[in-house]
Amino acid sequence: MESNSQYARMDYWDERFQTEKNFEWLSGLNAFQHIITPLFSKDSRIAHIGCGSSQVSMQLWELGYRNITNIDYSQVLIENGRLEYPNMEWISDDITTLINCESSSFDVVFEKATIEAILVTEKSAWEPSDSALHNLENIFSSICRVLKPNGIFISVSFTQPHFRIPALLREKNWSVEMFEFGDTFHYYVYVCRKGNSLNKELADRYSSIAKSWLRPI
Ligand SMILES: C[S@@+](CC[C@H](N)C(=O)[O-])C[C@H]1O[C@@H](n2cnc3c(N)ncnc32)[C@H](O)[C@@H]1O
Repeated sequence: MESNSQYARMDYWDERFQTEKNFEWLSGLNAFQHIITPLFSKDSRIAHIGCGSSQVSMQLWELGYRNITNIDYSQVLIENGRLEYPNMEWISDDITTLINCESSSFDVVFEKATIEAILVTEKSAWEPSDSALHNLENIFSSICRVLKPNGIFISVSFTQPHFRIPALLREKNWSVEMFEFGDTFHYYVYVCRKGNSLNKELADRYSSIAKSWLRPI
């Protein structure tokens, strides 16, 4: 029987990408392009982590961004991508380590709906498990490591700020900002700038609602 917990399994994604060539989670670039493209330049080195079969990288390419790396732990997806879009770089890697990516090598790390896939087995949004918090710390510290000084992490998500902002605040090496888009269902763009000091007003506002996302482990 199908359940959301399958989204946390690599074998599920490998099987899905045997046939799936194009599927966009949450929203396509056109809905949030106005928020993200002013944040970087045409020659920025951009990593789309947990890229899946999203067309965001291809749409950025069409807009003139030519230094794009697609990263996913599904070997099937990466091999298909290399054949179909050889003008972009494709790296098979787990976003909890990014072990196959060089330190300080990207201006921008972009993710959409992959953190949600990794947290899908969580039982309560108010009480994250130790394992969820470990995963988040590993993901965020890996992203920080591969970002250049002053690089930015962009996360497009349906997770509401009172849950996601305290989680992002676990990483002490970046500042956090938030934008919103969508007409009926609202989505969020979280922007974290490596090396910037914390936005205290935002931190104060969001770290007291769902405090468990900030608890020590
Ligand atoms: C929900 S899809 C999102 C795909 C794409 N970002 C989008 O917005 O359409 C999650 C993707 O993350 C990948 N993924 C899940 N866990 C991962 C991990 N730990 N490391 C790397 N990729 C992962 C899956 O293979 C899948 O392609």
